Amino acid sequence: MTAELACFEERCRARFPITEVIYNCPRCGGLLEAVYGDHEASPEALKKRWRERRLSNDPLDQSGVWRYREFIPFLPDASPVVTLREGCTPLLDAPLAARYGGLRRLVFKHQGFNPTGSFKDNGMTCGVAQALRLGMQRVACVSTGNTSASMAAYASAAGLQPVIFLPHGNIAHGKLVQALEYGARTLQVEANFDQILALVRHLAERLGIYLLNSINPFRIEGQKTIMVEMMDQRDWREPDWVVLPGGNLGNTSAFGKALREMRDIGLIGRLPRLAVIQAAGSAPFYELMQGADRTRLSKVEDPETLATAIKIGDPVSWPKAVYEVTASAGVVERVTEQEIADAKAIIGQSGIGCEPASAATLAGIRKLVAAGTMDQNADVVAVLTGNVLKDPDYVYRYHTGVLEAPDGSQIVANHGNPPTVVPCDGEQIARLLGH
Ligand code: F0G
Repeated sequence: MTAELACFEERCRARFPITEVIYNCPRCGGLLEAVYGDHEASPEALKKRWRERRLSNDPLDQSGVWRYREFIPFLPDASPVVTLREGCTPLLDAPLAARYGGLRRLVFKHQGFNPTGSFKDNGMTCGVAQALRLGMQRVACVSTGNTSASMAAYASAAGLQPVIFLPHGNIAHGKLVQALEYGARTLQVEANFDQILALVRHLAERLGIYLLNSINPFRIEGQKTIMVEMMDQRDWREPDWVVLPGGNLGNTSAFGKALREMRDIGLIGRLPRLAVIQAAGSAPFYELMQGADRTRLSKVEDPETLATAIKIGDPVSWPKAVYEVTASAGVVERVTEQEIADAKAIIGQSGIGCEPASAATLAGIRKLVAAGTMDQNADVVAVLTGNVLKDPDYVYRYHTGVLEAPDGSQIVANHGNPPTVVPCDGEQIARLLGH
């Protein structure tokens, strides 16, 4: 199977060897993607092989990424792969959340079940494998927290040095502590995500450090498997909608690419529609898709949201995201801080839980159903991107009624569940419990 890097821009499409260390097209500056020759196996043979691998004890087969290696064939062999058994995340039925969203049924694909608690692990195992294949020693990323947690773990497991750049004071503690624990050199920069990424893109090149932000096409290849695994778990029945939060828009790009490629090789018959949900204070992609001219994104200079994972005003992958949302007849919606907080509490009450950015999905569904864009009988899969323990401060503040939005307004704990302090007295506790 031939594998190459190709410029994503329609007017360029220049090709480069898969082993070139580039993050943008050297000819036109466009985004890059991995492209492959024809698949040798038939779709039915691939489905059968992937299903059989679930019974295997081979680490590669146990990974929910590498199990689908024929779908991401950028390596000549598997020798550089380091797996922490990423992927393998469940589809969870959530009747309470479905009712809240206005749907008859809703299923969450919970990427928070990953080894470092977010969907980033799917892409990171691929990005780190490529770094090893290229002989890199140091890897770097700028992150709102999850990419860095994931990169720290995979790089350390692979014997590489992780260097992490974070927006100082703007990442959830659950994520920061992962970077420290997994041994990353952690730099907290006094700037926002977009400003740091602009800096580090050039710095990494100058210092010869391999950049593992989602601009790296191999990360996107790994994240494609989230959609493949979902289809495999659904016995290849396409949902009507796939709903996901949008930040830097790497995941939107990956899901769109995966679904198109699955359709093109006959694994699925039709494309589900993508619904990308942004936080209202950080919604440049929403604004772009509302306008008539989709060729230029106006960045949000000071993005704001308590969902710090998606606090991004200048998303790098927007050209790919425009293409994928358009190709899937998708939509982009935005939701408020209050809507995210309440939706998150409902996902919690469902016994599932997630971090704030992930809850934008349910808040968005509720809006799309109310507007009539999404039918109440639609078959919907929403992707929860991160684990509830990523941001415990947010959770505690919400339930105790002290969560404040970035503009200083109070978030109302509509579904709050504060703890009660009681004396060590059996009688009083019994009375409190209604006896
Ligand atoms: N949800 C979570 C939990 C995230 O961490 C991110 C992105 C997103 C959604 C948005 O995904 O960027 O592909 O559109 N987090 C990145 C990070 C930016 O650095 O961890 P996207």
